Amino acid sequence: MRLILMGAPGSGKGTQAEKLMNEYDCHQISTGVLLRQSIESGSDLGHKVQKIMSEGLLVSDDIVLDLIKNQLSEIGDDGFLLDGYPRNISQAKSLKDLLETINKPLDYTILINVPSEILIKRLSGRRTCSLTGKTLNIYFSSQSELDECLSNGGELLQREDDNEDSIIKRIEVYEEQTEPMIDFYRSAELLLTVDGQGPVDEVYLGLKKLMEL
Ligand code: AP5
Repeated sequence: MRLILMGAPGSGKGTQAEKLMNEYDCHQISTGVLLRQSIESGSDLGHKVQKIMSEGLLVSDDIVLDLIKNQLSEIGDDGFLLDGYPRNISQAKSLKDLLETINKPLDYTILINVPSEILIKRLSGRRTCSLTGKTLNIYFSSQSELDECLSNGGELLQREDDNEDSIIKRIEVYEEQTEPMIDFYRSAELLLTVDGQGPVDEVYLGLKKLMEL
């Protein structure tokens, strides 16, 4: 399986990618996760991208293309699920060229559709358990899930870019730069769309149905 999960910030790409990865044998490649790891490690790349990411802007196309090339070469012939890449038409074209060169064509791109008022609540409520790394939400996770982290001595951490200004900027950037990719993939007959408004498990069922078609 070789696919792109596309959707606005907070649409549930990371959440659904994790579920898909557990059930289908493939690797999740998230440029957001890779960039945050580079910040945490204090690398030169991390220093370069930290301010841009905290402001909700996109880092340069060259940087993310290098990350993707490295990851694809590491996973060899295994399947992959791209989460957060590509994010503009130029990245979509670079990915197309790269996949042609390595002879790994995409199966499809799945767009997770969620209205912006829901996105803001999901992003402002997102927390990560410091012990398990699990993504939770103070508005949508069950009390028992939140307690499980806290009662074991964990903390519910908030991402640096999940503040109001950055959330608004990220949604704006998505509408201006990422949404035009919808037509790009529709024209290539690679676009599938799933309703991402319902609870996590319901969205996942919708995704699986699409993939089984
Ligand atoms: P990235 O990490 O990709 O962030 P994003 O696109 O803003 O997406 P998010 O991770 O915020 O949302 P998500 O859709 O994964 O939602 P999640 O599943 O976590 O990118 C961060 C930054 O890195 C960018 O701003 C940019 O600076 C840079 N970057 C990354 N890639 C780049 C690229 N290609 N080019 C240039 N720059 C790049 O869910 C969100 C919350 O909602 C969670 O709390 C979750 O529990 C909850 N939730 C999920 N689904 C549901 C549901 N169905 N019902 C209720 N709650 C739900």
